[in-house]
Amino acid sequence: MFKNIALIGCGAIGSEIAKSIDLHNISNCRVSMLFDEDDKKIFKLTEELSNKPDGIFSNFNDFISSNYFKDIHFVIEAASIEAAQRYAPTLLEKGKDIMIMSMGSFSNPIFSKNIINLMRQTGRKVYLPSGAIGGADILRSVKEHIDEITLVTTKSINSIKGAPFFINSGMNINSIKERTTIFEGNAEKAIKEFPSNVNVSALISLAGVGFHKTRVKVVIDPLIKTNQHEINVKWKYGEFYIKVNNSPSPFNPKTSYLAVLSAIECLRSAMVNDIQIGS
Ligand SMILES: NC(=O)c1ccc[n+]([C@@H]2O[C@H](COP(=O)([O-])OP(=O)(O)OC[C@H]3O[C@@H](n4cnc5c(N)ncnc54)[C@H](O)[C@@H]3O)[C@@H](O)[C@H]2O)c1
Repeated sequence: MFKNIALIGCGAIGSEIAKSIDLHNISNCRVSMLFDEDDKKIFKLTEELSNKPDGIFSNFNDFISSNYFKDIHFVIEAASIEAAQRYAPTLLEKGKDIMIMSMGSFSNPIFSKNIINLMRQTGRKVYLPSGAIGGADILRSVKEHIDEITLVTTKSINSIKGAPFFINSGMNINSIKERTTIFEGNAEKAIKEFPSNVNVSALISLAGVGFHKTRVKVVIDPLIKTNQHEINVKWKYGEFYIKVNNSPSPFNPKTSYLAVLSAIECLRSAMVNDIQIGS
């Protein structure tokens, strides 16, 4: 029997996940419902799928009240921090397992605590894919012994423009002509300033020492075409350094294509009973 997947957010990541499911890359899964506040995004994705969803929605209440929703096995959020914070608690209360792409949502401690309480009460699960970086496994293993952790995220102008940081600081992004560190602070502040660009900082905060103690540097390099992330960790019994150099998704320069593949793999692990690899 097919497992029905509902998707919230039909943008770059959501569309790629839906198309992958449509191509039967994840056995016995089908995209059964789509929800996005932007009708155009839903229609475009629906057009591109060979197996059409049962229901498409641009209103959350209609989405969760629909008869199709009762048969949903798994919900994928690939929309925005605001969407994750607004919808995830209701989805758990309605008995659904969810994968959350907008991990910055967890930098709000009230949301985080609420989600953990709801998971305990309902027995449902929340999945957070590794995203645009690796290393969550090592961080989880050593988290009680970490002395220092810094993420350095280097982006092109194209992949970071539009972030609230530029309005808040008054910095003119077009004036940057050479490699420049534009932000240094903790992960909580980084997510407020760059909500669509530093999901990696949320993942490593959750896997490691939290949003206050995780340091983040954001660097703009007008000459690069990739999104680079480097994690430097010093811990009681050693140190490690992880660097990824990711090409952007062809559909959204803010998103690394690795983040899309990681979400697909996370869904596969959640849906398919298989050997669990890594901690
Ligand atoms: N976990 C990771 O590794 C990772 C990596 C990159 C991006 N992300 C995050 O995943 C999310 C999706 O990224 P994307 O590149 O696909 O973005 P995108 O802008 O291409 O698509 C987002 C879609 O969600 C819809 N949307 C936004 N807010 C909504 C709401 N409140 N209700 C309904 N629909 C809403 C938009 O209309 C849009 O179609 C973002 O929050 C992004 O920051 C996560």
